[in-house]
Amino acid sequence: MTTATPVRAALVTQYGEPPVLGTRDLPHPGPGQCRVRVTAAPVVPLDLLCASGESYFGHPALPYVPGVQGVGVVERGDTLPDGTRVWFNTDAGMRPGDGSHAEAAVVAEAETVSVPDDVPDSLAAALGLSAVAAWMALTWRGALEPGEGVLVLGAGGVVGQVAVQAAVALGAGQVIAATRRTSARETALARGATSVVDLSGAGAVELAARMLAAADGNIHLVIDPVCGEAATAALQVLADGGRLVHLGASGGPIASFSSAAVRSKSLDVRGYTNNSLSPEQRAEALSRVFALAGAGHCDVKHHVVPLDHVADAWRLAAQGEERVVVVPTGTSDSATVPSEQP
Ligand SMILES: NC(=O)c1ccc[n+]([C@@H]2O[C@H](COP(=O)([O-])OP(=O)(O)OC[C@H]3O[C@@H](n4cnc5c(N)ncnc54)[C@H](OP(=O)(O)O)[C@@H]3O)[C@@H](O)[C@H]2O)c1
Repeated sequence: MTTATPVRAALVTQYGEPPVLGTRDLPHPGPGQCRVRVTAAPVVPLDLLCASGESYFGHPALPYVPGVQGVGVVERGDTLPDGTRVWFNTDAGMRPGDGSHAEAAVVAEAETVSVPDDVPDSLAAALGLSAVAAWMALTWRGALEPGEGVLVLGAGGVVGQVAVQAAVALGAGQVIAATRRTSARETALARGATSVVDLSGAGAVELAARMLAAADGNIHLVIDPVCGEAATAALQVLADGGRLVHLGASGGPIASFSSAAVRSKSLDVRGYTNNSLSPEQRAEALSRVFALAGAGHCDVKHHVVPLDHVADAWRLAAQGEERVVVVPTGTSDSATVPSEQP
């Protein structure tokens, strides 16, 4: 049987507009592929960027099903047993092919990662690639050693939330959570951050003063998904031999550094992208974060919206307050967590 199966799906039909709910023919999985019944799929900044038609990947052909990652249950596996709970990623919006914002998806088995029973679908989806970036920025690019001081910029975002909790779990000596949001600072302290910094309403000089005031001893590592004034300030407060791992620019595309600070302290600025990871590295990172989450040591705030209201989900995601997770109606998450209209 090789015929396509119609499934309910979000469809991007115009660049820059939220998707509409429609029907899409799902192809039969080929060798090395499986069909996954989707239970949760996040709306991430990359989804919005690709659907804008202005990403560096070019214009995706319309219509297409968005969603670069998701969580679900294998229904028709090649080598994976049916019933396996998996996280998966897709190339939706970057290359031809459909994504995760649908009732089902056909994905490469090599791109899947097993999800432990003690991690709910919506949390696994909310963590996803942002959690991979946070984990690898700390452990691989950041080479965090137990006892070192860590400063996390943008601690209210998913990368930042995971970085704070992972740094605590990895035995950092101090974890300073820096974010513009009051509620995020409170959450970070409740999750083990040792101090917090308000990143709002100030330039780099004032932000650096706030960072130093919050630090209790040396800051050895900065996790930077923000760039802009916050990163400029963070480069001023690093200790001798300190590292700044830069992985995003949500606060602006440019940060500057003081020659004296970088030179005199032999500072190290390191870039990071998930795209440089092998599937094995990505799976290892995600498995480590899922293990933390299952043990109750890694959570991210997220908001669940049924697939029926996918346009609302995208509008909410564009506001950037909280990670939005789309769930096909009928999954356990959609039954228990009501949609909030933006
Ligand atoms: N390199 C990679 O492989 C990789 C992987 C995943 C994500 N990223 C990038 O990392 C960044 C964060 O991703 P995420 O998943 O955590 O996104 P998210 O959950 O949507 O969080 C948004 C983040 O951006 C910050 N932010 C937004 N607008 C800002 C502004 N005007 N000034 C300062 N900060 C601002 C927020 O800081 P507050 O805490 O102050 O609200 C928060 O940290 C994005 O740029 C994303 O593209 C990179």
